[in-house]
Amino acid sequence: MSIHESSKKRKVTTHVLYEMKLREEKIAMITAYDFSMARIIDSTGIDVVLVGDSASNVMAGNESTLPITLDQMIYHASSVVKAVKSALIVVDLPFGTYQGNSKEALASSIRIMKETGAHAIKMEGGSEILESVERILSAGIPVMGHLGLMPQSIHKFGTYIVRATDEEEANKLIKDAHLLENAGCFALVLEKIPADLASKVTYDLKIPVIGIGAGANVDGQVLVLHDMLGITQEFSPRFLRRYHNLYQEVKGAVEAYVYDVKKRDFPNEKEQY
Ligand code: KIV
Repeated sequence: MSIHESSKKRKVTTHVLYEMKLREEKIAMITAYDFSMARIIDSTGIDVVLVGDSASNVMAGNESTLPITLDQMIYHASSVVKAVKSALIVVDLPFGTYQGNSKEALASSIRIMKETGAHAIKMEGGSEILESVERILSAGIPVMGHLGLMPQSIHKFGTYIVRATDEEEANKLIKDAHLLENAGCFALVLEKIPADLASKVTYDLKIPVIGIGAGANVDGQVLVLHDMLGITQEFSPRFLRRYHNLYQEVKGAVEAYVYDVKKRDFPNEKEQY
């Protein structure tokens, strides 16, 4: 049995991810937002499915992740949960549902867990959101942290460039990573930071570190589905590997369909009753 096949059927839990880090098995994580794609993804041996608030960009066409609501995240997550049998399902807490106060953060997380059946939530930030992280964890809800480039703070950063390139920001990131681990987070996403810094954090922490634009020396990788499939065309950061050009594939197929309809070639005799 290949590695691919053997990882196909097991149920991934937060504990399984921890064990994977211990035995240095890389963790593969990808985003999903709907039932049909999630069903394909779960059949691949993927370890973690993230219902990311990147749904705001790739599903709803917004320029940032800020507009997506808790109800919309719950809608996406419920669809994904119906399809996924093996992977661990993590759902992003959307902007504005946890930064204000920890009681609201807990209430938002409880809604996600109750109304979707997902396994964990993810939230962006370090010391600023620590009280919320602790309150959510105290209710028995697993939390994945997210540091480095935090798209929900885009208006503070002003740009999507690589983060923590200066010593001050790098030191804060290291401190925040330890705070999140000590609070009880089960894993941490590091987005768009120097590979050496990500490597150091990964070595320092016992919990798995999943990178996106954070180099190879982390415990796992995450990509946005629409980016790696080549559905999004305009987004081409250096870290992105495109595995397909689905934009062209879909365009070609729909153009062929339009052509056939116009030419009265579809449906043919066998395609009617
Ligand atoms: O929302 C998302 O897709 C994410 C990933 C980029 C990690 O947070």
